[in-house]
Amino acid sequence: MTSALSVNDLSLNIGGAKILDGITLEVQENETLGIIGPNGAGKTSFFNLLSGLRAPSRGKIFLGEKDITHKAPYERAKLGLARTFQTSSIFPNLTCLENVRIAAQAANNKSLNILKNAYSFPEVVAKAQEGLDQVGLSSRSLQKAGSLSHGDKRRLEIAIILVSNSNVVLLDEPMAGMSVENVPELVEIIRSLKTVHKKTVLIVEHHMEVILGLADRIAVLNYGELLVCDTPANVIANPVVQSAYIGEAL
Ligand SMILES: Nc1ncnc2c1ncn2[C@@H]1O[C@H](COP(=O)(O)OP(=O)(O)O)[C@@H](O)[C@H]1O
Ligand SMILES: [Mg+2]
Repeated sequence: MTSALSVNDLSLNIGGAKILDGITLEVQENETLGIIGPNGAGKTSFFNLLSGLRAPSRGKIFLGEKDITHKAPYERAKLGLARTFQTSSIFPNLTCLENVRIAAQAANNKSLNILKNAYSFPEVVAKAQEGLDQVGLSSRSLQKAGSLSHGDKRRLEIAIILVSNSNVVLLDEPMAGMSVENVPELVEIIRSLKTVHKKTVLIVEHHMEVILGLADRIAVLNYGELLVCDTPANVIANPVVQSAYIGEAL
């Protein structure tokens, strides 16, 4: 097995508080790792360290074999690490196609200048259209991204990931704010990141049924520490996990 992403003793202190403490784990190529834990456990902070928004106080981060601990967020993105945010990674006043086209063009080395004569790169536009098609948004190509429903914005974010040549994808609570009837569709699109597109996926989500349905392994964070990282069945049966979740439905 090949490691897609690994962290060693990863730690974050803010103003004397231990936000993350000595996290060591390895995610394999094409694995889906679910990350769960009570509110404030450090899940989003963990993603902030992985994506480079924050520097760790201690420890190392590797993308494949490469030490990315001190790389800027854009450098990590170029190396194949993608992250979705709640909604902020799309341009609301541009069409869906433009949003995806910009990502496709940025990923295409021959056409780095995203402002230059967009449609002189037909292969980039075709790739963008294919990305929209793969998430079921092709009929919305010319609609402004800001006018999409919440669920369709999430699809658009995934189309952006699909065209961006990224290998490792970080999804922070992708179901947040979705109405329940739209959850199964988004679950299937996220599943396709692994099954169809062969990505490595790290997903933070507090809908347990979503995590259980998608994850190969689940990492449990509690007060900034990694309690356990194991198969879903073993995690559910783990008494330490159950006691961390007292009062919350598992
Ligand atoms: N910029 C910050 N300054 C101080 N404390 C922070 C900051 N960001 C997060 N925290 C604290 O770190 C802990 C973990 O937060 P977070 O990573 O958002 O948890 P989760 O995503 O698991 O809910 C919380 O106690 C939170 O209050
Ligand atoms: Mg969070």
